[in-house]
Amino acid sequence: MYCVRNVTEDLYWVGANDRRLSLFENIHPIPRGVSYNAYLLMDEKTVLFDTVDWSACRQFLENVEHVLDGRKLDYLLINHMEPDHGASIEEVLLRYPECQIISNEKAFLLMRQFGFQIDGRTIEVKEGDTFSFGKHEVTFVAAPMVHWPEAMVTFDTTNGVLFSADAFGSFGALDGKLFADEVNFDRDWIDDARRYFTNIVGKYGPHVQALLKKASTIDIKIICPLHGPVWRKDLGYFLEKYDKWSRYEPEEKGVLIAYASMYGNTEAAAGALAAKLVEKGMTNVVMYDVSNTHVSYLISETFRLSHIVLASVTYNLGIYPVMHSYLMDMKALNVQKRTVGIIENGSWACKSGTLMREFLDEQMKEMTVLDDQLTLASALNENGIADLDSLADSLIESIRNEA
Ligand code: FEO
Repeated sequence: MYCVRNVTEDLYWVGANDRRLSLFENIHPIPRGVSYNAYLLMDEKTVLFDTVDWSACRQFLENVEHVLDGRKLDYLLINHMEPDHGASIEEVLLRYPECQIISNEKAFLLMRQFGFQIDGRTIEVKEGDTFSFGKHEVTFVAAPMVHWPEAMVTFDTTNGVLFSADAFGSFGALDGKLFADEVNFDRDWIDDARRYFTNIVGKYGPHVQALLKKASTIDIKIICPLHGPVWRKDLGYFLEKYDKWSRYEPEEKGVLIAYASMYGNTEAAAGALAAKLVEKGMTNVVMYDVSNTHVSYLISETFRLSHIVLASVTYNLGIYPVMHSYLMDMKALNVQKRTVGIIENGSWACKSGTLMREFLDEQMKEMTVLDDQLTLASALNENGIADLDSLADSLIESIRNEA
């Protein structure tokens, strides 16, 4: 059965939701599912903007067939070729034999790499080209590395609709509510939107900045992303979030305490630090056990907050493996501009603090590591209280001093 919604008078959402997939890209948990958005424009020509993941293909095809209502499909316009959007291209071509694909050179290269039979059906476009479908005229804007090299966005100059590919997307299936103004986005969606951006596109901040710069020159009325809600009101709210995230600037002053604890003693010290920070007036403090928090959540919180405390036991004379993995992910995703406090623990040959400091100083960009540090020999005791206090004071002072 079809499930579609109007975006504008002649533009339809014909995507599909996936609530069965547990791991997006087979790595990121999506307990609220995900939507694969595709859009169908019913102009003098009919134009399908992107397709969906193979798992959602049947629903998508029923939606397309319903909206076409007997008309043929003239064009399939592909903004992004990653298989969560491009997997159903060949199926569309098989069902609509007169349909031609509009996309760019790199996207066509990828389609061929994935084994799609597209020869004789391609219309190649590049940035700045325009294309008319009747009443609607679109122009193409390259968006390389947002999030793959072939990515582009398409702007409908007739009504101000931006088909933004992965940009402005979010994890989370759509419960009938297509538009961001139909949900309480800031309460129910922002965490998933941030986790989506930071883990999927976070590495490519400068490329997102380049796209935002181009976007600022056009009069965008509606943003149609490939995942999550469509934006038709209060676009500035989300544009500002994207600007912050892609500049690696924190959204809030606050402290993320990420701890790696084997028997609870490092966790106890982390908890004592959290209590001290709150006592001293910093109440925006969150604690996460790196062993049972998926790293995608840690990364999202790292982008949100200004200060991080890494508390880790020493393991095989190194950093606890799960903490190390979090650090590696931070580096891979280009995290920068954060102030970090360190708690280390080791019953003998305590090394984790020195190694975490070296990692932050030598392998990451613009990370400030506080001199004050808490070193534990097995557990926090009275001897460590002064250092705990100093670390808390350093964090508070740093938070106060940051603009
Ligand atoms: Fe949603 Fe880069 O694909």
